[in-house]
Amino acid sequence: MYDVEQIRKDFPILQHLVNGQPVAYLDTAASAQKPRQVLDKMRQIYETGYANAHRGSYTFAEQITSEFEQARQTVQHFLNADSAREIIFTRNATEAINLVAATWGMQNLKAGDEILVSEAEHHANLVPWQNVCAKTGAKLVVFPIADDGSYVHENFLNHLNERTKLVAVTAMSNVLGTIFPIKKIVAVAHDVGAKVMVDVCQYAVHHQIDVKDWDCDFVAFSGHKTYGPTGIGVLYGKANILQVMPPYQFGGDMIEHVSYQKTTFADIPARFEAGTAASVQAIGMAEGLKYMQTLGLKNITLHEKELTIYATEKLSEVPRLKMVGTAPDKGGVFSFDIEGIHPQDIAFVLNKENVAVRTGHHCAEPLVNRMGYTSLTRASLGLYSNKEDIDALVRALLKAEKFFREI
Ligand code: ALA
Repeated sequence: MYDVEQIRKDFPILQHLVNGQPVAYLDTAASAQKPRQVLDKMRQIYETGYANAHRGSYTFAEQITSEFEQARQTVQHFLNADSAREIIFTRNATEAINLVAATWGMQNLKAGDEILVSEAEHHANLVPWQNVCAKTGAKLVVFPIADDGSYVHENFLNHLNERTKLVAVTAMSNVLGTIFPIKKIVAVAHDVGAKVMVDVCQYAVHHQIDVKDWDCDFVAFSGHKTYGPTGIGVLYGKANILQVMPPYQFGGDMIEHVSYQKTTFADIPARFEAGTAASVQAIGMAEGLKYMQTLGLKNITLHEKELTIYATEKLSEVPRLKMVGTAPDKGGVFSFDIEGIHPQDIAFVLNKENVAVRTGHHCAEPLVNRMGYTSLTRASLGLYSNKEDIDALVRALLKAEKFFREI
């Protein structure tokens, strides 16, 4: 049984009171809160086994190196990747995507080639490709989603052709919550010879991932969204592709041999991990993934699905509220507009009521504009969210709506 009240006890910040009251944290799409297991693990490493990973042969150094490499294996199993060599630790998902753009992109793209993205991409899975296009002469092509935010396979197929060298798509929109059918996308993209990069930043928080089943070429996600620390992310890439990509950054630990005349580079994954690794963050990230696995990814998905139905119903009670993103296949992300009230004003009232949401364009400005807005309010769920969080949100929204209607 999924006991959300018991689970909440693992998150110290959820017990922390602000102005004497608990906070309804509904901004997990921006960053997740951390369970005690992650915090304890990181503290334990710093207190009992910290040194620079891959650098020394004394006990602390060997301990951290071993924990760091175990963290890589945890990520491998979380994604169901073939090998831990396919897991590159980066600063975050943004850096993972930039790595592919700067290496694979610069190596493989030229004028006449196309990169295909959806209208629903986060800036992190859009701007790096714009930059590569500007440098190589390749063209960025955007395929439309439906007005309710749904993925439309026909639109994708209409924009895919033999010039498409890369498809870069999200598995779950951070604004609309729409789930994209990645396996189906990859299969047809591969038919035309394109590689596929999947942004799983949001999807990984709520769903089981199987990169072998998807057969995608690259995947990027961040530790801070999967209940781990900030400062750490992952690039997954198929080994045969990573192996022929040039290095991204240059320095310590990514080399094989260095002389004043010439440097040869290490094999993967080290080739893409220049400098001192964020080892404790990687270990913390792995602990977050293990925490999710202990609860069971399927149980998390189910819990959030029930809560999504509940939230959708409750939010419909708020006068003048228009939900933006109502695809049948959507996760627990609720972006909305209340006619006549600026999202910043809504968030101000919500904050007074201890309800935490995000406002703005959510790092997806073209998408928010395409849906007809410049700014939206967004509430989003995590594995610890409960009905009381939704009730607190709706109570605060009713208050805000009444207040702004009457002034
Ligand atoms: N990408 C994060 C969000 O959607 C920061 O809020």
